[in-house]
Amino acid sequence: MLSMSRRHLMLAATGLAAAAAAPRIVFAQAAAPAPAPAAATGPFTLPPLTYPTNAFEPHIDAKTMEIHHDRHHAAYVANMNNAAKTNPQLGTAKIENVLGNLNALDDSIKFTVRNNLGGHANHTMFWQIMGPNGGKPEGEVLAAIDRDLGGLEKFQNDFNAAGGRQFGSGWVFVTVTKDGKLAIETRPNQDSPIMDGKRALMGNDVWEHAYYLNYQNRRADYLKAWWNTVNWAKIAERYAAAKAGTLGV
Ligand SMILES: [Fe+2]
Repeated sequence: MLSMSRRHLMLAATGLAAAAAAPRIVFAQAAAPAPAPAAATGPFTLPPLTYPTNAFEPHIDAKTMEIHHDRHHAAYVANMNNAAKTNPQLGTAKIENVLGNLNALDDSIKFTVRNNLGGHANHTMFWQIMGPNGGKPEGEVLAAIDRDLGGLEKFQNDFNAAGGRQFGSGWVFVTVTKDGKLAIETRPNQDSPIMDGKRALMGNDVWEHAYYLNYQNRRADYLKAWWNTVNWAKIAERYAAAKAGTLGV
């Protein structure tokens, strides 16, 4: 253990030194977006990943996971914390209640909330329904897929096709009603089915930031590979919550 720890520390120190010596090269290679704005603290928090960033290699690479979670999702969180400074009610209400009533918001913040709280909700769901060794759908979820979506193979093909057709940035979701009925739906940008009073059982992010480092413009290849990252046990939990009326984001 001790030698492993020392080796790990040495490697970490080497990595830190390299990063400090050539930060511009690292950023250029990673095609990093602009850093998140300041003021990351407040009522909104970035949920930590429950698995390492390399958990999905080779399907999704660690660098993509780091940038996606630590910068893109973090930016949505930081933007919401900024918005909550002048609109503290945003930080105390349930996310699904705010997104489900966007028209109740003042025009000055509606656009910010739609994009950034939508992004926070969508990504929070996204990290949850992914996981290593995610298994296969079974039980009630599989029965619902068979009943409403034509079986697993047809469902996955239709889901991938819908994600491929989404023009520009957006998401492909499976929505779920309180009686457990499933449907494939897409949304542009960071819109969420929650904005229409619905709930997302699961969804895949088809923004280029989700796949561009590895897949470049090959969104279809990413959509196919992504199924290797799906955590079906978590989706079963979310399905049960939807039927109980307790599913949030
Ligand atoms: Fe994303």
